[in-house]
Amino acid sequence: MDLYERIPNNVNLANDKKLQRALEKWLPNYIDWWREMGPEGFQEKDVWLRTAVDVGSEGWAHFDYVKMPDYRWGIFLEPPVPDAKVGFGDNYGRPVYQEVPGEFRNALRRIIVTQGDTEPASVEQQRQLGKTCPSLYDMRNLFQVNVEEGRHLWAMVYLLHGYFGRDGRDEADALLERRSGNPDKPRILEAFNQPCDDWLNFFAFTMFTDRDGKYQLSALAESGFEPLARTCQFMLTEEAHHMFVGDTGLGRVVRRTTQLMKEGDVRELGGIPLEIIQKYINFWFSYSLDLFGGEISSNSSDFFAAGLKGRYKEQSQYTEHSAANENFTMMVVEDGQLKPREVPLRNALNELLRTEYVKDCEKGLARWNKILTEAGMGERLYLPNPRFHRHVGEYAGHNFDLQGNLISKETFEQHRSEWLPTIEDREYVRSLMHPVTAPGKIANWIAPPAAGIKGKPFEFEYVRL
Ligand SMILES: [Fe+2]
Ligand SMILES: [Fe+2]
Repeated sequence: MDLYERIPNNVNLANDKKLQRALEKWLPNYIDWWREMGPEGFQEKDVWLRTAVDVGSEGWAHFDYVKMPDYRWGIFLEPPVPDAKVGFGDNYGRPVYQEVPGEFRNALRRIIVTQGDTEPASVEQQRQLGKTCPSLYDMRNLFQVNVEEGRHLWAMVYLLHGYFGRDGRDEADALLERRSGNPDKPRILEAFNQPCDDWLNFFAFTMFTDRDGKYQLSALAESGFEPLARTCQFMLTEEAHHMFVGDTGLGRVVRRTTQLMKEGDVRELGGIPLEIIQKYINFWFSYSLDLFGGEISSNSSDFFAAGLKGRYKEQSQYTEHSAANENFTMMVVEDGQLKPREVPLRNALNELLRTEYVKDCEKGLARWNKILTEAGMGERLYLPNPRFHRHVGEYAGHNFDLQGNLISKETFEQHRSEWLPTIEDREYVRSLMHPVTAPGKIANWIAPPAAGIKGKPFEFEYVRL
């Protein structure tokens, strides 16, 4: 691939003039959006970034200094599997769809638009963070995540332009018009309208909200609509780094806090107390759970039946791919009480995916708690019960404590400031956010990383200021 091609790709764009023209028309609007809504204050700086130049586990990325507006946002799909078949649902075993199945056109467009909308939204949420980075290493990771979310937008826009004709083009334009947190034209999903204006938010966001992305993309990577499956498979390669940033970022905050706890009062020493870290976990975990959709969902059933959205690791984890004759029991609120309800498994697939996600999040918590254990601390961080603080699905409109017990609204409000970040907590965290930009230096509230990027040391000049 030519890194300096206008739109680097492995989809033979040069042979599809109509699509190429459409994307080249969208490109300047995208660059305008990036300049207006991308990282503020650093657009002309050289950043040591990886750029996707191919697919495959080896050598898919090129590392070099680049100014972000010059980043090559390419279109890369995993190579097709010869003779691929729909892997689940009612069309199991039939050839995969190369075109959008007519009766699911609207639903599929909605899935792609919703996924696509999250990508620029997160760039908008994070656009001020470069100004308060705890180190150059962290600043570079932030920008890496940002440019790759930009590429993920490209990935979805390619599908809209390539497979949905006129309305696909309109949707691609609208993706550049909505704005995170704007009351008149907000982003589609609520987690993507929440402010992400300090680095503790950023690490919690990349840990929990990017991880929702991993599970959505994994389910779509199983799709019988082949271009979507292959697109999402490659996006997952990049997504792994985003979660690494969040997971290790929070781990480094925990490590530093533990050091300060041994020295004295964490606040007086300018660190972030564990209680505040816990509240940020509660906040972002609960908002991220909402992204999976309702616990009981006829859409999830329809998408699975049609072979469009599978279960997590559908091919490697399951032997029976119809999911037609099983049931799933979940707790629902009935007559003011939590009661078990049995529903057809196909209607519970959002909940099933959410459960896989929770298991994955727990591994992160175990890593952070290991840091506390090794430092000889008795305190532990934890995930709240998935019913806590939900705004979507069965539990929305009810109140639960951190253990998932149904409680009154009054009780919830009495405890709100113990469970979720208060304005004072947020102000305190913000008060610690002073930029540290000398190579090899790090802010006081976070520990340095165990290693640098791609064999470079922590002291490397990841961003030339
Ligand atoms: Fe993404
Ligand atoms: Fe991401």
